[in-house]
Amino acid sequence: MSAATGKKAVLELDGKKIELPIYSGTLGPDVIDVKDVLASGHFTFDPGFMATASCESKITFIDGDKGVLLHRGYPIAQLATQASYLETCYLLLSGELPTAEQKSDFENKVRNHTMVHDQVSRFFNGFRRDAHPMAVMCGVVGALSAFYHNGFDVENVDHREITAVRLVAKIPTLAAWTYKYTIGQPFVYPRNDLSYAENFLYMMFATPADRDYKVNPILAKAMDRIFTLHADHEQNASTSTVRLAGSTGANPYACIAAGIAALWGPAHGGANEAVLKMLDDIGTVENVAPFMEKVKTKEVKLMGFGHRVYKNFDPRAKVMKETCDEVLSALGINDPQLALAMELERIALSDPYFIERKLYPNVDFYSGIILKAIGIPTEMFTVIFALARTVGWISHWLEMHSGPYKIGRPRQLYTGETQRDIKR
Ligand code: CMC
Repeated sequence: MSAATGKKAVLELDGKKIELPIYSGTLGPDVIDVKDVLASGHFTFDPGFMATASCESKITFIDGDKGVLLHRGYPIAQLATQASYLETCYLLLSGELPTAEQKSDFENKVRNHTMVHDQVSRFFNGFRRDAHPMAVMCGVVGALSAFYHNGFDVENVDHREITAVRLVAKIPTLAAWTYKYTIGQPFVYPRNDLSYAENFLYMMFATPADRDYKVNPILAKAMDRIFTLHADHEQNASTSTVRLAGSTGANPYACIAAGIAALWGPAHGGANEAVLKMLDDIGTVENVAPFMEKVKTKEVKLMGFGHRVYKNFDPRAKVMKETCDEVLSALGINDPQLALAMELERIALSDPYFIERKLYPNVDFYSGIILKAIGIPTEMFTVIFALARTVGWISHWLEMHSGPYKIGRPRQLYTGETQRDIKR
């Protein structure tokens, strides 16, 4: 629980003083508990939740000014370079990194749940082949709720825990099948002798005609790291959506589908796709300077730049850039889009427009270039983000359900018509 500091904020309203308690977390700004404002007949007003802590959480901490991101206390760069994605999943879900035995136990559990009910495969046929993969993901992940609803009890710890394992295990299968469906290839079933990232790449790229398809270990390592870098990011739009949906007691698979919907937008997870489209549109290094002028006149946004919380380097972007360099040099790829991206970054980091607004590259700025090198098509980028973020979403859902919580129900400043009568 948060600690009461003994300090109080005093709000004076209509000549009356309201004392509001202040709490401290273990890190980050203190928070003012504004609940008592309600009794005075007022609401607080904070569109976009710029200054609102919507819950108490022990999972992830971000210091946006210093460029710090910690999962359960561990810096993201350490996790990305010293732990696997599944170890990070275990950490997010349980609070601690696994021992060797816990790790193998968890990996086995995940392996045992990679298959989806065969009926699920039929849902894909209802979609157009040219549907956006995120549209398909919203549908098929939501459809899982139909398979795990009867008998599911949100109050039951075992039911909640197996839901988390199932989601982490099945989401790569659904993501890879989404891709296969959109390109008209048969679904490839999971192989449980492979690591998490290898299995995903296998289901993405193997075909019945190429039975001996081998996943390149460099690409599997990069994929695993990309998953880790996207695993959680505290109360962002999609996680808050999952919490809000979950606060009604809704089926968890439906809640995750809601998270996927929120992630899709270009201001959130859709930015990685938008970055590559932007680089395609710019085309050559000579076009970078005129493009930046358009950014400054607000005709376009520099995708992959800026963040609601980071007003300094996004620590994920640093590791992503290193991984990008490693992958491209290991594969011997000389991607002209990387040169473009570096020129954009160079100009942005030295231009007063970006400096004054504290706009730095975020995680999505480099991830697209690596994903492209891995062979993932642009439309699938946000699906990769959703796959990796599923563990974060379900960790927050678990945390919310493991203690007392209230249904999320914000209020509003109503500026519509006052009461009137129908006159005919
Ligand atoms: N390019 C150009 N100008 C920008 C950008 C950008 N990418 N981002 C913010 N600004 C400007 C904005 O116009 C505003 O300028 P002014 O003060 O003159 O009006 C100022 O910077 C503050 O921007 P804001 O819109 O108030 O910032 P926000 O915190 O509401 O928005 C953001 C954060 C991520 C939505 C925004 O920076 C953005 O749209 N970035 C591009 C999309 C992107 O890369 N998103 C991925 C975020 S990281 C992955 C994730 O966690 O989802």
